[in-house]
Amino acid sequence: MCGIVGILGRGPVAEQLVESLKRLEYRGYDSAGVATLEGDHLERRRAEGKLKNLEARLSGDPLSGHTGIGHTRWATHGKPTESNAHPHATDNVAIVHNGIIENFRELRAELEQNGASFASETDTEVVAHLVESHLKNGYSPQDAVKASLPRLRGAFALAFLFKGHNDLMIGARKGSPLAIGHGDGEMYLGSDAIALAPFTDTITYLEDGDWVVLTRTIGVIYDSNGAVAHRETLKSGASSFLVDRANYRHFMAKEIHEQTEVVGQTLARYVDMTAKRIALPFELPFDFNDIGRISITACGTASYAGHVAKYWFERLARMPVEIDVASELRYREAPLRKGDLAIVISQSGETADTLAALRYAKAQGLHTVSVVNVPTSTIARESETVLPTLAGPEIGVASTKAFTCQLMVMAALAIAAGKERGELSDIDEMKFVGELIEVPRLIAAALAIEPQIEKLALDIAKSSAVLYLGRGTSFPLALEGALKLKEISYIHAEGYAAGELKHGPIALIDESMPVVVIAPYDRVFEKTVSNMQEVAARGGNIILMTDATGASEATVDSLATIVLPDMASTFTPMVYAIPVQLLAYHTAVVMGTDVDQPRNLAKSVTVE
Ligand code: G6P
Repeated sequence: MCGIVGILGRGPVAEQLVESLKRLEYRGYDSAGVATLEGDHLERRRAEGKLKNLEARLSGDPLSGHTGIGHTRWATHGKPTESNAHPHATDNVAIVHNGIIENFRELRAELEQNGASFASETDTEVVAHLVESHLKNGYSPQDAVKASLPRLRGAFALAFLFKGHNDLMIGARKGSPLAIGHGDGEMYLGSDAIALAPFTDTITYLEDGDWVVLTRTIGVIYDSNGAVAHRETLKSGASSFLVDRANYRHFMAKEIHEQTEVVGQTLARYVDMTAKRIALPFELPFDFNDIGRISITACGTASYAGHVAKYWFERLARMPVEIDVASELRYREAPLRKGDLAIVISQSGETADTLAALRYAKAQGLHTVSVVNVPTSTIARESETVLPTLAGPEIGVASTKAFTCQLMVMAALAIAAGKERGELSDIDEMKFVGELIEVPRLIAAALAIEPQIEKLALDIAKSSAVLYLGRGTSFPLALEGALKLKEISYIHAEGYAAGELKHGPIALIDESMPVVVIAPYDRVFEKTVSNMQEVAARGGNIILMTDATGASEATVDSLATIVLPDMASTFTPMVYAIPVQLLAYHTAVVMGTDVDQPRNLAKSVTVE
């Protein structure tokens, strides 16, 4: 994964490189580094851990070069040590890389045989040595890169810096995103437009297989066949301001609290509030009546949004839906039918597996809809129809507001499908849209239970494992609750369909095991209560998330009952997500973890 940046500047660039890397930390944060051309020398500064360590290194040992590259890393090959941190360099070339070079072992063996000596355990370093080997054979930098790229298998975005070439930088992309930023007598490369926003809003996205030769005044793009390629230059619209935490202790807390507003904004984009009708922002290029099956694909939290949506499409539109995590769909050769619909869901729009699943579906001749939060992302650009979520920038690694906004979009789409297929009448549509319109207010009411959850987190933080149970649409929410807790508090957690409890996880239950039961008073409530009885009979500590009716009907003693506002039962996950997120957040705060940048994770996963 990782974030990369390159600057051909008019003055010293080290500070700008770091500023840009701060905006790329969502792509990884286990080490960072920069390289600049200092006169005729390549110089590097690298540091383990967060960017502040690199900043400290640079303030003790500054760089003044006007041409430089930078990198923030999420380790794939080799531990997050300084020697594995990018840039990697040989005598004449320094590079930064995002992605994985799959054939690095054979390339490394070949290069070592020819005398190259490696200083890191990374896959990346082979690229530097490969280019160096061509330079030593008298190739120009451009020809050396051109000769090297076809030898690389895997996914990459690369930026190259060459000793003795102060007005040159080369970039290449295959699989991982890379953008050119056009400045005034300056040029930039970056993993995304956000990284370059402090310097320029004029952006050209490289397409897959492209590589570019940049000077301060011009960028010449070549496609994978070596032909000059013309790619559109756009105004990015990415804000040059770093999003701040406002008065919140963490971005995650801020983002949880923003949900009333951003879910409301997303809703406003998809419904006509006055008429209580669905009003999608774009006309879909297909009729739901012609779709035999929907295939939903995503990763992580986004996949749980898809899982909830499966229930909605089945129930409201009577459509068969398959939901897959993207890393499975792409390789299991799923028999998708031409003309059917594939929906991919992604906050970042850059997740490598999700992108691959989208391409797989396109290649099979399916219509493709992407539900994305970053409208300029690769997934957005490559899908037939983009349905944006309006969550705004999400910085906390654990997704919160993007999830509820994804649910809102999927709910609107499921209603639209039901209507078009004649499963829902005008009255039904108005009823369901009316229920969606209530959601932002209900989220605000759910946020009011935060003090109770804060207290409860003190108990949860003492546990070594937590079980989450739910039925129907509360089942994927149980999965999401468990994911949220484990990713930021590092407490082991499992989500289960409540009915599956007796088929295994019940063996884990004892007095030390908190069991979070997500059970709005809906048509499966009674069944879930029976499962709760089974937990209670074995001494488990139940935390019940329900509404006032559920709280009075549940006949089981619980450690805590979190009472959420009454609401119609179809769209409860958008509201019950709030206590689930708050519980994970406050537990992590009690545990003292790095809530916004938990260990080993990254916000955007651009490797498979
Ligand atoms: C990472 C993040 C998760 C996110 C998942 C999918 O694992 O840590 O929070 O849900 O990627 O990301 P996407 O950007 O495709 O929604």
